[in-house]
Amino acid sequence: MLAPWRSPLSSAIYRNRSKPFSRYFQLATVTPEGHPANRTVVFRGFLDDQSDVLKAITDLRSTKIQDIEHHPVGEVCWYFTKTREQFRIAANLQLVTVAETDPTLQQARQTTWHNLSDSARSQFAWPDPAKPVAEPTAFDVSPPNADTPLDNFCLLLLTPHKIDHLQLRGEPQLRCLYTWQSDRTWKTQQVNP
Ligand SMILES: Cc1cc2nc3c(=O)[nH]c(=O)nc-3n(C[C@H](O)[C@H](O)[C@H](O)COP(=O)(O)O)c2cc1C
Repeated sequence: MLAPWRSPLSSAIYRNRSKPFSRYFQLATVTPEGHPANRTVVFRGFLDDQSDVLKAITDLRSTKIQDIEHHPVGEVCWYFTKTREQFRIAANLQLVTVAETDPTLQQARQTTWHNLSDSARSQFAWPDPAKPVAEPTAFDVSPPNADTPLDNFCLLLLTPHKIDHLQLRGEPQLRCLYTWQSDRTWKTQQVNP
């Protein structure tokens, strides 16, 4: 059975589909030193239709990898401008790398790579992120093979455990908290905005 927050989130994604930027969310992580670090990433769908696990992709060479290795938790902040609602999603983070031995997860990594555009795949062949800027020609890469993810391509799985859904529309505004409990059920609470 899907989590109770899944339907409001899927509905927001659907109702805001005319705005391509609705598929971007901010993902905060914690650095090894304990500082917050935040960046925009693209929502790549759910792990499967019946899953509550969100997918994103990233580069094994990027700084956030160390954050996730030290603290495999993060918080998504996702604002939908058309319907004026925000989801804050506290989640456990899991990296699915080239070394993943679970066949289902490795297959998900391959499929996600396959479904990217050539230009998205090419970014994984660019020079190392956050290093001193390379010659422009270093970015003229031919698109990598769509069937074989580059080794630095990472699938990032987000398994939510707390969701705070705020809807600005309406009088009064609506706010609902969904919390994953130790008995492995979701608690749903309508709270003041
Ligand atoms: C609209 C937009 C979409 C982005 N999508 C992704 C993404 O899906 N994955 C990713 O790793 N970085 C993405 N980035 C780049 C990140 O925001 C960030 O600059 C990069 O991942 C380096 O972050 P880090 O140093 O914290 O690892 C995106 C940036 C923008 C502006």
